[in-house]
Amino acid sequence: MSEQARASFGGKLSAILVAAGSAIGLGSIWRFPYMAGENGGAAFLLVYLLCVFVVGIPVMLGEFAVGRATKLNAVGAFRSLSRPWRWLGYNGVLGALFISGYYYIVAGWSLEYMVNSFGQLYSSGDSFTSQFALFQASPRQAIYTVVFILLTHLIIVRGVEKGIEKASKVMMPALFIILIIMAIRVALMPNAIEGYRFFLKPDFSTAFSAETIFTAIGQAFFSLSLGMGCMVTYASYFKKENHLTSTSMSVALLTLLVAVLAGLVIFPAVFSAGLEPAEGASLIFITLPEIFKDMPLASVWSAIFFLLLTLASLTSTISFHEVLTAYFAEEHKFSRKNATRITSALSVALCMLTLLWHFDIDFAGIKLENISFFEIFDYVTANILMPLGGLLTCIFVAWFMKPDFLRNEITNYGTLKGRVYPLLRFALRYVTPLLIVYIFLKNLGVF
Ligand code: TRP
Repeated sequence: MSEQARASFGGKLSAILVAAGSAIGLGSIWRFPYMAGENGGAAFLLVYLLCVFVVGIPVMLGEFAVGRATKLNAVGAFRSLSRPWRWLGYNGVLGALFISGYYYIVAGWSLEYMVNSFGQLYSSGDSFTSQFALFQASPRQAIYTVVFILLTHLIIVRGVEKGIEKASKVMMPALFIILIIMAIRVALMPNAIEGYRFFLKPDFSTAFSAETIFTAIGQAFFSLSLGMGCMVTYASYFKKENHLTSTSMSVALLTLLVAVLAGLVIFPAVFSAGLEPAEGASLIFITLPEIFKDMPLASVWSAIFFLLLTLASLTSTISFHEVLTAYFAEEHKFSRKNATRITSALSVALCMLTLLWHFDIDFAGIKLENISFFEIFDYVTANILMPLGGLLTCIFVAWFMKPDFLRNEITNYGTLKGRVYPLLRFALRYVTPLLIVYIFLKNLGVF
């Protein structure tokens, strides 16, 4: 396909914006605090930081190289380089499907909280924990999920360039600002110091347990949108002048910054309100309202925050929707429009499946209540498909392809110095894959 025929993003900044738009989302603001809360706080933060640099950035560069060199969807990209490796592309498509099966649901929660900021959230006087539980049991959850899928659908239909770039440009600076305001506000709450201690003072006796590292690697993949063909697909819209190295560094640092800010907001609030850091998936939805409730104009602040979280999630849902849409359109020759429809319909179906467990339904003797697709989808994507995809990407780029492939992409065919290239190649050949394999095996109990 000629360069003109395929869409591409605008300049340098656009590449960073759209990739960061994909990366920054529920992963940093919802999932990171909840994983850190369940895995020792500061110990988790420390290992997560390491994982972003040692695993995240190299894998992202590998994906960028594959995407930009081929200008194809995830499956097409790997296949065009080497036919058997198309399976790595399918791994990504499968991962994108699984993530679609629950991410929209959580994004829907944020939509509900935005709307409900003006509803009962701050006026009913019920605890936020019980309000969350009530919402969970209500069919509204399904409606918000579908609304979120529709929003994503509409942006994708308008095409990659317009929708995604615009949304990211406004949303990201605004998100930083509100997180900083919240971090300052929370510092003034009683007992905040306990939260800083939990989040910033690592306990080295637990920091390097296999479990913590395993979860942190999964979180690094999840939050940077890696191991699922997402950055391959996005980089296929990059231009040949885009600097891959600086783009990946910027994306990783921006994502880290949001995650750390989210932690600095959540944990002081958790301890101040006497909640549990290991609360799980509901953590931010019961903690954040505690911060807003005593602020003047509580509803307004709360609505602004959840609006921004919704927008941040939207630039992420767009990115895995796009993995599937590009796949259906290019591999199965559907029109873009139909490919978008198929992806959205599949997403609705999977999310409804996930939501079934909330209802007490007996299905051929199997109680749906007892199966949580939510946890299965999350675990399988973050802890299996993404690290596996990342591992194979390293092996493919650094062992299978000739060295020139990576060097050309990193140096933009010799026009950049590419000083990091030797380090990157070393990481992709040895450090990153060995670390992933080690942690996989260790977690399976092999050692
Ligand atoms: N990174 C996004 C977040 O943190 C989620 C996401 C979007 C993603 N696209 C992805 C995760 C592709 C893995 C792969 O919210």
